[in-house]
Amino acid sequence: MDFFDVISQRRSIRKYKDDPVPRDMIEQIMETARLAPSWHNNQCWRFIVVTDPESKEAVHDAVSDENPCKKGLKQAPVAILACASPEDSGRRDGKDYYLVDVGIALEHVCLAAKALGLGTCWIGVIDEKLLREKFGVPENFRVVAMTPLGYPDKDPSQRPRKDLSELAFREKWGSPLTDPR
Ligand SMILES: Cc1cc2nc3c(=O)[nH]c(=O)nc-3n(C[C@H](O)[C@H](O)[C@H](O)COP(=O)(O)O)c2cc1C
Repeated sequence: MDFFDVISQRRSIRKYKDDPVPRDMIEQIMETARLAPSWHNNQCWRFIVVTDPESKEAVHDAVSDENPCKKGLKQAPVAILACASPEDSGRRDGKDYYLVDVGIALEHVCLAAKALGLGTCWIGVIDEKLLREKFGVPENFRVVAMTPLGYPDKDPSQRPRKDLSELAFREKWGSPLTDPR
């Protein structure tokens, strides 16, 4: 798939088929997380790929009933937990770069999955304590987010986005990039 098509056609997928995802595909996807950029190249992230049905139950329990992706998490054959160590990344001016590092790496995963015909959905609101205990995540790591991974059972339409003129400026704040020069 063309890179720009991957970006424009990626969606948050909340309905999955139960077809298994081949192991080599999972490894190919996770390889793209390994290659992500990070603060001082410290690679503060760790990922837990969960396929065992009993463990997936715990992942499901870590998301509230109100979460729109809860059902999808149960349907998809794989869940990926994205963890990161704040002390292995930077903190400057109140900005915690471990969140940036792991965010980039997890988005690599989402885009690679799309390129292979698979779906993902970022899930940010999680019961971190439950996941930490169940999966033996060390004290110095945070569980930042997770995603289901599987074959989409729905092709959602594109969610609205702000116009480029609202968010990209030329030379100074407020001067839309897209304005004719
Ligand atoms: C940091 C972050 C946390 C998110 N958490 C959730 C979540 O808990 N549940 C969910 O269904 N979607 C979650 N999403 C997905 C967003 O709702 C989704 O990306 C947005 O609505 C745009 O839709 P799209 O991804 O299909 O373009 C999250 C996305 C991000 C980046």
